[in-house]
Amino acid sequence: MIVREHFPSDLFSGKTVFVTGGGSGINLGVARNFAALGADVGICGRTESRLESARSELEELGASVSTTVADVRDYDALVDAFDNAREALGPIDVLVCGAAGNFLAPAEEMSANGFKAVVDIDLLGSFNAARAAFEQLRETRGCLLFISAGQASVPHIAQAHCGAAKAGVDNLMRNLALEWGRYGIRSNGIVPGPIEGTEGMKRLGPDDPEARARFTSAIPLARYGTVDDIGQAAVFLASPLAAYVTGALLVVDGGTYLPGSGLLAHRVQRAMAAAGGDE
Ligand code: HXC
Ligand code: NAP
Repeated sequence: MIVREHFPSDLFSGKTVFVTGGGSGINLGVARNFAALGADVGICGRTESRLESARSELEELGASVSTTVADVRDYDALVDAFDNAREALGPIDVLVCGAAGNFLAPAEEMSANGFKAVVDIDLLGSFNAARAAFEQLRETRGCLLFISAGQASVPHIAQAHCGAAKAGVDNLMRNLALEWGRYGIRSNGIVPGPIEGTEGMKRLGPDDPEARARFTSAIPLARYGTVDDIGQAAVFLASPLAAYVTGALLVVDGGTYLPGSGLLAHRVQRAMAAAGGDE
């Protein structure tokens, strides 16, 4: 559910939120939740049609919107995107670094360029965005949000590139919290679990109903997350409710990455059920 029902609808009125990779999926969900609370929104990505379709959704929620085609690997393109947003909407109060790429590839088969592509988009792209937005964030005493992933702390088969990139993102998030706190800039990260209907789950998730049911039953909260679950967490971290929170990683995964969840827990549950205990 979009946050409008839980927060004052003008919480971000007069504020500018910029989301890299904001044209689709989780990042668009984050942008929509800010728009629903009065924010104006800037987004960038590599595909103009995707940005234009996102623009319509965000405008329907009442936001003024700035879109710029920009690859986060291209620092100058980000500078242009943030200049455009500033001119149209005012200086950036919240920067969400969400652009990312991923695919399944065993390390021994992955090309050096494949590894580099993901690190360049996720990690260098996040630094580029934070660095290029710094002057605007300093002016607004704004905040940074980085979209991480469970792969940063829990190794996954065929995810060496993503794990390395997102671990770097988490570390960057903490370094910027340390360095930019003196400018009043907060820096935090969100770790989404498996999120329903996203490109990430299309590429990485279980691909048949039986595997999906097994996977879901191993999640303590027994469901996939929604893009609004992540949007709500983002709104909280950017809001005055989190005014003293910086350098934090907020895990929003229904318990997916808790040690002890997964196949072992599933087996224990079956044993408990067989013994007549609670499932
Ligand atoms: C092996 C692959 C590959 C694949 C690309 N490469 N796809 N290797 N398996 N499936 C290799 C290529 O062969 C090439 O290496 C190198 O990666 C760069 O490929 P390009 O196509 O030139 O890269 P680029 O156009 O920059 O595209 C980046 C991309 C692409 C990451 C490869 O998939 C992309 O744009 N993705 C964006 C959308 C996305 O991934 N969304 C999901 C995010 S989910 P060589 O050696 O041949 O030159 C996420 C975490 C999810 O981030 C967690 C879920 C649980
Ligand atoms: P998605 O829809 O593919 O989102 C990625 C976005 O980034 C796209 O809009 C894409 O648009 C943009 N992008 C990719 N490469 C870019 C580049 N070089 N420059 C600028 N923009 C770029 O996938 P998603 O699954 O929603 O993932 C969104 C975020 O959540 C990512 O940070 C991902 O790591 C994280 N995450 C997802 C899940 C999940 O369950 N899906 C779980 C954990 C973490 P273009 O291709 O048009 O550029």
